[in-house]
Amino acid sequence: MFYERHQVWSVLLRLFHWSFVLSIVTLVITGLYIHFPWTNTMVIGNSYFPVATMRYIHFVAGFVFTAALLVRIYLLLFGNAQERFWDFLPITPRNIKNLFKTLGRYLYLNVGHEHRLGHNALAGIFYFLTFLVAAVQVVAGFFMLYPESVFWQKWGTMLFVSQQQGRGIHYLIMWYFGVFAAIHIYIVVWNDIFSRNGLISSIFSGGKYISEDY
Ligand code: HEM
Ligand code: HEM
Repeated sequence: MFYERHQVWSVLLRLFHWSFVLSIVTLVITGLYIHFPWTNTMVIGNSYFPVATMRYIHFVAGFVFTAALLVRIYLLLFGNAQERFWDFLPITPRNIKNLFKTLGRYLYLNVGHEHRLGHNALAGIFYFLTFLVAAVQVVAGFFMLYPESVFWQKWGTMLFVSQQQGRGIHYLIMWYFGVFAAIHIYIVVWNDIFSRNGLISSIFSGGKYISEDY
């Protein structure tokens, strides 16, 4: 079988993906600890400050997460053909058709498969939603971190009304990322097996393989 290699993801997109993943893993672990410090801090004694350490790591990862999101927003407008938002959102006839084809394929309705270099439109909707949710999480985080800043107060009170509500929503959004990650990893492995285009390696190497037979 003959496979043709296509360069699909830029270095910047791959850097975004992996810094996003690593920062989220760090933020979920440290965030859960801030929410419910599971080690007995009284036994450890007052010279270790585990909560303060976890908060510090959370804030550093929070800045990495914010930088990654800004990079992705730039790529939505100025990235390569696969990275711009109109390539994967159902806002063109081609993508609307692809959305229904993808749903049919995932439901095992045997509707065939479209050769496509970038994301399918179903994945695209959820990636875009994830960027929006990430932006809300950043506002909630900086609203809590810099309560005295007029800029964050303005955005924070507009979205969450109060600090308490901001914190509650920040906690709930953590679960969104957990659920997204579980379903995302399942679907990329599924596609890697059934589409035979080297999907998983593409997020490391940037290249996908297209064959006429798959
Ligand atoms: C995927 C991204 C993130 C996740 C999953 C996450 C998760 C969490 C969780 C679970 C908490 C504890 C909330 C509670 O007590 O109920 C928390 C607290 C906090 N997070 Fe995040 N966070 C994320 C991003 C950020 C960002 C970007 C910032 C900005 C720097 C940030 C700043 C904070 C602050 C300031 C607190 C409160 C700490 C305290 O008062 O002790 N977080 N986060
Ligand atoms: C080891 C685990 C992971 C692997 C192997 C992986 C693999 C991939 C692959 C192959 C794609 C491209 C899929 C496509 O074309 O639709 C992708 C995209 C994406 N992944 Fe992951 N992923 C992993 C973990 C995560 C996690 C934990 C998150 C966030 C919670 C995440 C967020 C994303 C996002 C937002 C995209 C869209 C890329 C973009 O266009 O910006 N991934 N991932």
